[in-house]
Parts: sequence; C-alpha cells; structure tokens
Amino acid sequence: MDFKVLPLPVEKMKDKIKDETQLGFGKLFTDRMLMVEWKDGQGWCDARIQPYGPFSMDPACAVLHYAQEIFEGLKAYKWADGRIALFRPGMNARRFNQSAERMCMPAVPEELFLEGIKQLVSLERDWIPTAPETSLYIRPTMIAVDPVLGVKPSDHYYFYVILSPVGAYYAAGFNPINILVEDHYVRAVPGGTGEAKTGGNYASSLMAAQVAKKKGFDQVLWLDGRERRYIEEVGAMNMFFAYGKRIVTAPLTGSILSGVTRDSVLKLAPSLGYTVEERQIDVNELMTDIRNGRVTEAFGSGTAAVITPVGKLCYKDECLQLTGGRVGEITQDLYDTLTGIQTGRIADSFGWVSFIE
Ligand code: COI
Repeated sequence: MDFKVLPLPVEKMKDKIKDETQLGFGKLFTDRMLMVEWKDGQGWCDARIQPYGPFSMDPACAVLHYAQEIFEGLKAYKWADGRIALFRPGMNARRFNQSAERMCMPAVPEELFLEGIKQLVSLERDWIPTAPETSLYIRPTMIAVDPVLGVKPSDHYYFYVILSPVGAYYAAGFNPINILVEDHYVRAVPGGTGEAKTGGNYASSLMAAQVAKKKGFDQVLWLDGRERRYIEEVGAMNMFFAYGKRIVTAPLTGSILSGVTRDSVLKLAPSLGYTVEERQIDVNELMTDIRNGRVTEAFGSGTAAVITPVGKLCYKDECLQLTGGRVGEITQDLYDTLTGIQTGRIADSFGWVSFIE
C-alpha cells in the first residue's frame, strides 16, 4: 500500500524540543501522524501521512459510546551512529491484531502496520530524543467510527499512529516505586478482555489507581478476578519477583497482557545467568516470601515503564520493603542490558532490533 504524504504547512510545525530532560511521558506530539481507513466492502484505504491534529468525528461514533478501541505502544531510538532502531515491532503488529480479533475489529496487515510506522518515523526522525531514558514513543490506535447507536461491530474504522518524544514513564525516573495490591476492585476476569490492549481495561483501572494514589502509592497490582488470590499485572507493567537468581512471573492465562518487554526479560534473563519461571503466584505466599527474605527483588516491565524497580509492596494492612528501597542488582542488570540493546550500546544477539532507512 502506498502512503500519500500530505504537505506540512509551516504554521503546523511545532517548536522542537527545548530540554530533553523535561519531556515527561506522552505530553508532546510530533508534526505528523499516519491515518488509514477501513470501510466495509472496501477494506483498508486512503493511507496517508498528514499533519498531526484533531480529526472530526460524529458524536454518535461507536468508539465514544461502546469503547470499540485498541492500541499499541512501541519505541524508536536514535543510535550514536545516527541509525534509527525499532525494538521488536513485529510483536506489536501481531498483538495489535490479537486485540483486534477480540474486539471484533478488522486485522491490520502486518506490512501496513510496520511500513506505515517506518515511513512516519523516518519523516519525523528529528523528533527522536537522545538524552538518557528518552525515546520516541509510537502509539498505533484503531477506533470504530460508525455513527450508529446500536451495539454491533462498526462498518468504518480509523487506524492511526501518533508519535510522542518521551522521558521516563514514572516522574521519579529509574527509581523504586510503591505498589498497593488491590483486594477490592478487579481488572479482568477469565473470558473478559484482560489480554487485549483495549482502552476499557485502562478506564476501569482508574478508580483503584486514584484511591491508591491518595494513599501515596504509584500503582496498583491486580489480583485474579475469580479468587483475588493470584498476582496478575500492574496495568502499565507485567510483574517479576526475584527469588535469588530465579525470576518468577505470572503465566499468560488470558486475563493479563502479553507484554513485549515481559517476553524480552524471559529471553534475556537466562543469558545473564538467571533462571526464569512462569507460574501462578499466590499473594499470601509472596508476602511471606518477601517477609522472610526469599524474595530479594521485585520489578515491573513494560514498553513505557521499561524495567521499573519496586521499593515497597503493600497488601491489606502489611507493607514490606524490598532491597532497602534501592534498585536491586538483578533489576539494574536487566535494565542496563535491555536498554543497552535498544540503544545500540550492547550487541543484539536476539535479532530484536530493526532499522529504519
Ligand atoms: C505501554 O507500555 O506502551 C503501554 O501501553 C502502557 C500505557 C499505560 C502507557
């Protein structure tokens, strides 16, 4: 598919980044976006790279009423030699289509997804920051735009991609965060949409996050929706717990997101001398294991969050400190190696990086 590149008028060009250390996450967007439409009977059409900006939508649009929406998150990095690298974009393309299937939306051909992103990022290359902990965050999104109030899959969709130069996801940067294990609200149930990257999962997490924030926590850790007993994920991250050199994470049972960074940790860790295990983690056993020192570190993984150390974990009335509130050795090792591969400081022996011309 050819992408038409629409002119970018001078008045639509934004001021370039003044201070890369002040970027924050997802607050600034580049000059252009990718836009492709899908219409019943016609398929994907009208692919174009256009100036970034609001688009008009009918107030009756399906996405605004029934949340038929999916998205992805991946990053581009500018290497010291000037090349632009994407990290495992094929995994995002595949997961996007798994989410699309669950939400009754049309699949985006992988080539359209990947080529569209590559052409857009190539045009916007001057927006890729290079300061430590920064990157260009890529947000592919699909929304249902049928102006019909009946509940049914739409006949018309927008697939669009926007780009945001970002710093660390958490304001504190690569520093331990405090997590509350949520024992009242649930994020997902078996058979639900927990595995899909769809906006509703995030909307329904806001209440618990708000309550936790008021109590001084950065994030909530979700338990399974049936027994409220097994560790699932932290909305923006999958979770890992280190038992000495053994790193344990929850299995992909259908109600948690199959994280690209999670998968990368599972593949990277053995090459660094750690063993990995995917198994159900009972929250009561976990608390006991932290209390008696068997669990030595905890960290989260995600595209936005990269590897994020956990300093304090609280469940019901008990709060336990991990690694004395500092960044643990394994967490640091995985962070350094993963970001080293992503930014070209460490050779990529996994074939994870692909370059943009
Ligand atoms: C990502 O890590 O890319 C996500 O989509 C998580 C989001 C909450 C920022």
